[in-house]
Amino acid sequence: LPRDLFAPERRNSPGLAFGDGVAVGGLIAALAQVAGPFTAAPIIDGREEPGRTRSVASPIDGAHLGHVTEAETASATRAMDAAAGGFAGWSATPAETRAACLDRAADAVEEQRETLLHLLQAEAGKTLDDALAEWRETIDFLRYYAAEGRRLFAEPLSLPGPAGETNSLTLRGRGVFAAISPWNFPLAIFTGQVAAALMAGNTVVAKPAPQTPLIAAHAVRLLQQAGVPNDALHLVPGGPEVGAALIAHPALAGVVFTGSTATARTINQALAARAGAILPLIAETGGINAMIVDATALPEQVADDVVSSAFRSAGQRCSALRLLLVQEDVADTMIAAIVGAAAELRVGDPRDLATDLGPVIDAAAKTRLDHYIAQIRPQARLHLAGTAPSGHYVMPHIIEIGRAGDLREEVFGPVLHVARYKAGSLTDALQEIRRGGYGLTLGIHSRIEALAVEVAAALPHGNVYVNRNMIGAVVGSQPFGGSGLSGTGPKAGGPHYLARFAIERTLTINT
Ligand code: NAD
Ligand code: ALA
Repeated sequence: LPRDLFAPERRNSPGLAFGDGVAVGGLIAALAQVAGPFTAAPIIDGREEPGRTRSVASPIDGAHLGHVTEAETASATRAMDAAAGGFAGWSATPAETRAACLDRAADAVEEQRETLLHLLQAEAGKTLDDALAEWRETIDFLRYYAAEGRRLFAEPLSLPGPAGETNSLTLRGRGVFAAISPWNFPLAIFTGQVAAALMAGNTVVAKPAPQTPLIAAHAVRLLQQAGVPNDALHLVPGGPEVGAALIAHPALAGVVFTGSTATARTINQALAARAGAILPLIAETGGINAMIVDATALPEQVADDVVSSAFRSAGQRCSALRLLLVQEDVADTMIAAIVGAAAELRVGDPRDLATDLGPVIDAAAKTRLDHYIAQIRPQARLHLAGTAPSGHYVMPHIIEIGRAGDLREEVFGPVLHVARYKAGSLTDALQEIRRGGYGLTLGIHSRIEALAVEVAAALPHGNVYVNRNMIGAVVGSQPFGGSGLSGTGPKAGGPHYLARFAIERTLTINT
């Protein structure tokens, strides 16, 4: 029987019941009281480094939220040196002590709910629903890795051997990990990477995305207040050049990266070009995520699940649905139901509870999406478009393309592509998806169980969802991550994740 991935005393964060008007009203009132400005700067050995600052603007309306001092490459080097200095002490710290730091950090994330939700909304443009989900996921990652760390790192695993010989297997930290994260889950992914690397006994230099440094700095302070030693965790806000400096540093022992496939490739090449040890890259990247809908699927359920999968978070989830493949016989009905539902979505200020889609992250993302839509329009059939409010807003788009293979790049925003397939030609469509090389999330809507099994077996995707939406993986229940162009495989929030941050040692003693 599968092992329960949570210890019995461990449960996911309950979050907030949205149906409870009093609780939601209280939260909104509390959020209005959160006062900035916030700051971020390189944090090395617990000290914030001075330097040239720039303003951080909200994607919602451009409001000034605070200042960030971005790291120079010299401070990235200092942070790596400091993390190397902290490694001996932190890796020798008992696993229980390390786990207790993560549990205390989880308590602090719970306690600081209003500040963190405020930052997730203001800095990353999240709706309250999305911000709450991310806040909960952050708590879950911390508690889950603490529980898994106790299981994996506290005691050596005793192994069999002949009489007179004892064998055991121990996991220990590798050294300094660079943790490089994206802006779309600036709290959960940032904290999850850092927590996993620390739990495994590594010291960490964390580089958040340039769009979301304020929340990352808040998370680092919170982890240090929870007991993570100053020399075990360092922060270097900045862009690609800062990430590149971490990867070039001689003390580097591993990289955990979440972001685009192109950046993962660049990092992989930089790692390969280094002299010395071969270093692990734990990479979680993007996808051209597809959903297959056959003639037996229920249109209302399909419409609901497609709309949330493609458009929630303004499509800015790596898990989001990009390509809907509908059986030709029911395509008109299904597309009409989906378009009808998507046309009701409200785009605007995410702090308004009625809003479904907030802004995209910045002007560059808006320009990229507008440009993509403009260039695909003449060759495709547009089922849904619209005029967005001014600012970094993009309306939900539904665009019909000829076949699955016509979509070749991840379009990171609220743009859903639809293609039809004939009942007898599903295998060809699946082959086209397979040839694309991505393998992150896959959705299947069908009442025929055998078909769902067949589709899942034909594709390498890491997370397969049958008859539901395909976003919002839950820590410990839906370990998350893909294969091929979508990543190197170990799943965040799953039982095999922490081991990938560690070195294994077998000790054989002839007694
Ligand atoms: P990105 O690749 O542009 O940036 C990610 C991080 O890498 C940022 O911190 C960035 O500054 C850094 N970076 C960029 N170039 C670098 C270099 N040469 N060396 C070192 N670091 C470098 O991605 P993004 O736009 O921030 O995020 C969106 C992407 O992330 C999408 O493709 C999405 O699918 C993916 N994503 C994947 C997952 C997952 O779990 N699979 C989760 C969230 C996002
Ligand atoms: N883990 C996030 C999701 O499943 C990306 O939507």
